This record gives sequence, structure tokens and C-alpha cells, in this order.
Amino acid sequence: MDAGAAVSSLTTAEKASLLAGASHWKSVPIESHGISSVTFSDGPHGLRKQEKGSDHLGIHKSNPATCFPTASALACSFDESLVEEVGAAIGEEARDQHVDVVLGPGVNMKRSPLCGRNFEYFSEDPYVSGVLGAAMVRGIQSRGVGACVKHLAGNNQEHARMVGDSVIDERALHEMYLAPFEHVVRTAHPWAVMTAYNRLNGTYCSQHPWLLRDVLRGEWGFAGATISDWGAASESVASVAAGLDLCMPGPRGDYADAVERAVLSGELSPDALDEAAFHVADLERRARQGRQTAYECDYDRHAEIAYRAACESAVLLENDGILPLSSDAKVAVIGSFALLPRYQGAGSSRIDPVRLDDPWSAFLDARIEADYAQGYDAATGDASDEQLEEAAALAARSDVAVVFAGLPDRFESEGFDRKLMVMPKGHVALIERVCAANPKTVVVLQGGSPMEMPWRDSPAAVLLMYLSGCRGGHAAVDILLGRVNPSGKLAETWPVRLQDTALGRKFPDTDREVLYRESIFTGYRYFDAAGIDPAYPFGFGRSYTTFSYDAAAVSVTRDAVVASCTVTNSGACEGAETVQLYIEPLQRTVFGEPRRLAAFSKVTLAPGESARVRMTVDERAFRFWDVSDGSWRIEEGRYRVLFCASSRDVRLTCEIDLVAGRAPFAVELAKRQAPVDREALAPYYEVRPGGFSDDAFAALYAKPLPPRRPVRPFTPDSPVSDLATTFLGRQAFRIVDLLMARTAKRMNDDMKAMMDEIAADMPLRSFTSAGIPFAVVEGLVDILNGRWASGIAKVVRRS
Ligand code: BGC
Repeated sequence: MDAGAAVSSLTTAEKASLLAGASHWKSVPIESHGISSVTFSDGPHGLRKQEKGSDHLGIHKSNPATCFPTASALACSFDESLVEEVGAAIGEEARDQHVDVVLGPGVNMKRSPLCGRNFEYFSEDPYVSGVLGAAMVRGIQSRGVGACVKHLAGNNQEHARMVGDSVIDERALHEMYLAPFEHVVRTAHPWAVMTAYNRLNGTYCSQHPWLLRDVLRGEWGFAGATISDWGAASESVASVAAGLDLCMPGPRGDYADAVERAVLSGELSPDALDEAAFHVADLERRARQGRQTAYECDYDRHAEIAYRAACESAVLLENDGILPLSSDAKVAVIGSFALLPRYQGAGSSRIDPVRLDDPWSAFLDARIEADYAQGYDAATGDASDEQLEEAAALAARSDVAVVFAGLPDRFESEGFDRKLMVMPKGHVALIERVCAANPKTVVVLQGGSPMEMPWRDSPAAVLLMYLSGCRGGHAAVDILLGRVNPSGKLAETWPVRLQDTALGRKFPDTDREVLYRESIFTGYRYFDAAGIDPAYPFGFGRSYTTFSYDAAAVSVTRDAVVASCTVTNSGACEGAETVQLYIEPLQRTVFGEPRRLAAFSKVTLAPGESARVRMTVDERAFRFWDVSDGSWRIEEGRYRVLFCASSRDVRLTCEIDLVAGRAPFAVELAKRQAPVDREALAPYYEVRPGGFSDDAFAALYAKPLPPRRPVRPFTPDSPVSDLATTFLGRQAFRIVDLLMARTAKRMNDDMKAMMDEIAADMPLRSFTSAGIPFAVVEGLVDILNGRWASGIAKVVRRS
């Protein structure tokens, strides 16, 4: 039976029952009508299928699965086909473990290096995030499994993520924050989209009619199911009316009941219910069909893909010629991360790997003469005098020292943001001591996000592995030994200091109203506009060989804008180069970034070999969101096309003219006009170091900025931390502690720290995830607001 027919045969109550989960990971089945239960699992860098305890924070165990590099690493490969292959492998494991929909990829943008969840996202650039996100979706879905792209939209900080309001001006919203989702939806057709926890310009994303109906379905033509992030749905009726199809997790009998009552009373249109039920039933139909398709799942082959992915994602930041290491060298392997690598992030994406490599074993497997010193404590990152002494002594008596350092788990995680961009003091002290003891020191960095590297001139080489998955240990050592030539390029800017970023210490915003003051000036867009030199620019990465570029050409026809150049491997070993194409408008009248990534292409070449690299440029390279009438525009005029090895390493340039009626874009070209807002928006036309003020943003936002949301009266959306002022509120805190007590027993200290932060930001409505009926939450809210009688009545009635 097709989904439409199945839904039309259901009663109102049955339809409503489909709109909330049956359990943490499953949707509601209606077997009598041929509707089975759909099974979901995280995502995104491997599968987290939980059989016994369930949670959305990575606390309980999950079935062993292949752990691939996380998105911040994978993006550095700039390799769509590799990302697609990783997606396909995750899809195969999903099939093998009876999962229908994988919760990922995440295509949220990186506003600041401090976001605790940056490791799970691809890039600071919407083009890269969109293209690689689409590749991941294609891969997953090629195996008869759905992908649920997340988190739409404006979910860019962890602090107060369940109650915050992302206040984003229209241009930034379209050009930066919606653009990656738009590309994924339009080109890869994900089965599902996950709505973010936060509010977007005043309205929760899960009940945002403009976002879900006008943009997602209306403009982008999305035909799949919208699913709330776990615990994100606030008001049931408003959510369904706005276009949310499925509220997760379940059971949420109260949600279905409220929807049914609203339809019966006429408050909610039956069409809205039908539509949501249809989308859920259609998701189930796709899952059912997917289960019938043939697949093979070979965990050994997946381990090989994970190895290749780790190799391709590694970025060589520095090398004075010490790398590759000679295989006769006596190596001092220093730092706990050599034995206990940091290879994935904490939170809902944490999976239990089938196998795990570590660099120390990889050195031994390669039969390198090596000795080990711990250097620092793996969990805290602290280094004692003895540990430093031992490491320095080992380095001094070895030919070379390799220090493994970076960010321990407790420095970055889902659920909270980093406060500073620094590495643990112990890691820094260790690098300095070892470099002083032996100048032939190589630093291998593990971590999900940029770190300040005040020591970066001291070592002879620096290799960045990010969080490189279960085969990262062997990948790192094979690169150090020259068995693999590194080819990764940074998909985000590595600033010298936090203060250099557009947001500095204003991130995370500690107010509930999170002002996106920097507008479109995220990452390299800001560094370029403000003229600030980063430690390592977007797109940067070294190789053991060299590449030369020549013979650039660009043609603009009615069919396409095509750019090409010849790349030659001018060095002595095989290597891969990612050619990046940036567009620079020469006569801009609206404000904008100096240059924008328009396309990229990766090519592998033998020594002396050349290849013609061809890239098609689409309208995303030129368009801007015109706030005057809410549509995309491209300005007529001259543009410079830059063929680059990084955003700051321009090798060749061409110029093109875009003329109305003669460019192959769906967006119509517009004549340039003198800007009307130049004076009012001067900080965005002439970007300066130091970021953007509230006043500048207020002028750009062009609507009154939202007032601070009052703490009282309390509502189901009030976070637990708001209640701390009242006696009863403190008791609510206790309830949270009690609810978490059993789970807490399973947690290590890092997880407990994450839970403390998450608990404080948790809205009262989240108690429903622990099985507390929503009516009891409402009763509690009444009591907290002093309405004792009605509150107690609600609690008693439902307890
Ligand atoms: C995360 C999602 C995840 C979900 C289920 C949420 O806390 O934000 O990314 O898919 O939990 O685990």
C-alpha cells in the first residue's frame, strides 16, 4: 500500500499516534495498516545502534561499528567521492544492524573555533559543507538507508542550545546558514531533515512555519520527513501546524493526544495532520523498500576506507624537511595520545569502534626503533615535572621526537562550548620542553577544532590529524614515514589567537538571544575582509611534493561557467593537490566578502605528471540575498577568478564579465546600483579587526532586536538554571539529578562534566524524555508560578 492510501484509511487518533516516537529510537508502527516501525540511529561518522540502554549523549554502549574520521577531519580531504564512500559504508552497517535512518550528516556552520560540537561539522564555508554533506547523503542513501541531515537551522553553539534564540540577519541566514541545507536538499534529496533545538529569529525551529513550510518545502522542494532533534519539540499543536512531521524521542502519548484533540476541536486543520502523517508513513514506505534491496557489509573493507579517509584528511601544517622520517631513525614517541588517541568526539555521535589503532602500535608494526614517554595525563592534559623531565631526556637521546598532543575529551564536546582556544598547559609545556631537548621534533595534533599554537615555530614539523577515526593511528605513522603523502587542506581557518576571530570571547553568547553580529563574515570571509593574518588560512595544507599551476582559462556560455588550469607535480613523489577556485567581484556595490570559494577539485599526480583540472562554477559563487525584495541576485559586471592552492595562495587569475541574458544562471543578473545603506552599514562595508558591535548589528538586522526573554513566569521552555532562584526550582534541580543518577553511574568524569552543563540548560519540557508526562511538567510549571491548586491537580491527575 502506498503511504497516501495507508494514511487515508487511518482514524484521527491513529494518524496522530504516528507523529511522535514509540521509543527512543523507533517510530510508532500500525501493523494492521501495514505500517512498520522505522528505526533511527546516530550518525554521523559511524553508527551508534544501541540495543539496551538508550540515550542521546553517547553514554550507554552501542553495537561495534566502524569509526570514520569526524566531519571536521573528513572535510580536509576535499574529496566528494571519498565522503560518499564513507557514507555508503555507514549505510551498509546501518543495513547490517537493522537501522533505517542514520541521523546525519550535520551541515551546521562553524562561527567560532570554540563551539564544542565543531568536530561534527564540516566547515566554516557553506559551499564545502553543502557539497560534502550532499556526498555523505548520497552515499548513505545508496544502500537503501535514509539520511537525516541536521540541525536546521542556526544551531551553532552548544551553550543554551535548547532554549537559545539565534538572531540572524536575512543575508547571513540565506547565504551562510541555510545554504548548505539548501544544497543538500536540492541535490541529494535526503529522506529526512532534523529540526534544531534552538529558536531562529524568535521561533523554535521545530515549530517554525516559515522555515519548514515556506523555505524547506516551498522553495527547496523537500519531499521527505521533518524530525525534531531529540527533545526539541516544544508545543505539539504549533509544531504540527508549522510542518513538523515527527517528534522524537518517544513515547509521547501526550503529544499525539494533544494533536488529536486539536484536530477534533478545530484548532488544528485536518490537512496539517494528514500531511504530517503522510510524511511519516512515506518515510516508513521508503524504509520498508530499502530493507528489500541487496547490500553487502564487510567491516574489514570499511576499516580500509576509514584508513584511507584518515590519510586523506590529515593536514601537514609545517615541515622544514624533517618529514618523511627515515626508517632507521630512533624515535622518541611522546604523549599519552600515542597510546590512547583522541579519535572521535563526545556526545550523541560517540560510537564504539570495531577496532582501534594507536600510533604507538603502528610504530612497532612498522618496525621502527622507538621508545615511549607518557608526557601528560590523558584525561586532564596536566604534565608533572617528572613527566616533562622523562620526556625531555628521552627526546635528547633519540634521533627524532614525535609528540602527540591536542585537545582531551573534556576540552570539547557536544553539550558545552570551549571557553578558550588553548591546548592544555601540560601539552604546551611538553612541546616546549621536548623541542628544547631535541630540535628534530615533530608534533602530531589530535582534536576536533583549531587550537592556539604559540609554540608553532619551535618544532621541525606539525601534522594535524583532527579526530581521525579508528585507523588514525596507522594513518599518522604512515604519513610520518612517507608511506603516504599528506594531501589534506584546512576546511576552516586556524587563527593565531582567539581575539583575532570575529567573535573573540563573545562566543558563546551567554544571553539567550544569540546575536549573529558578524553576519556573513564567518571564518576566512572575516579574516580576509579585516586584513588579519591567520596562523593557517582556509584551504592550506602542505605536501611532500610541490605543484605548479599554469594555463588558466575561464569561459562563460549560456550553458555553464567553466574554469580550467593545468596542474603539474613538480616534485619528486606522487601526491594529490586540491585546486581551489575563488571568485572576487571587482566592482561590488553590496557589501560582501572579498573572495568566496566557488569550486574545488582534487587531482593525484605522479612526479612530473600534469593534468588539466576543470571546474564548473554555479550561481552560488556569485549570488547574494537581496533583502529589498527577498530574492537571490547576481550583480552584472567584472569578476576575478582565482586559481589557488589555499585561500591566501593565489597561483593564477582570469577575469570574466557577467552580462544579463548571457550567463547560465537561474538567478537573473541585476544592474549595479549605488547602495542605499552604505552609511548605516559602514562596519560591514569596511570590516575592521575587533568584530562587530550590537549597534552595527541592530542596523543590519533592520528589525527591533528581541528583548531579553524574562525569566518569569516560568514555562515548560524554562531551563533548569532559571529555576535556581526559587526553593521549588532547586527541588526541580534535584529531580534532574535523581533522573540522571542511574545514568551517572555509567559515566566517566568527562561525561559527568558534560551532563552538568547540559542539565543546567535543559528546559523543563525535556523531563518528558525521561518518561514524565507533559501534564506533570505543566503542573510543575503552575506550581513554580504560584498556581498551586491547578498545578497539584495536574500532577495528581497524571501521576
Ligand atoms: C543531538 C542530535 C542527535 C540526537 C539523537 C541530540 O542531542 O543534537 O544530533 O542526533 O541527540 O541522539
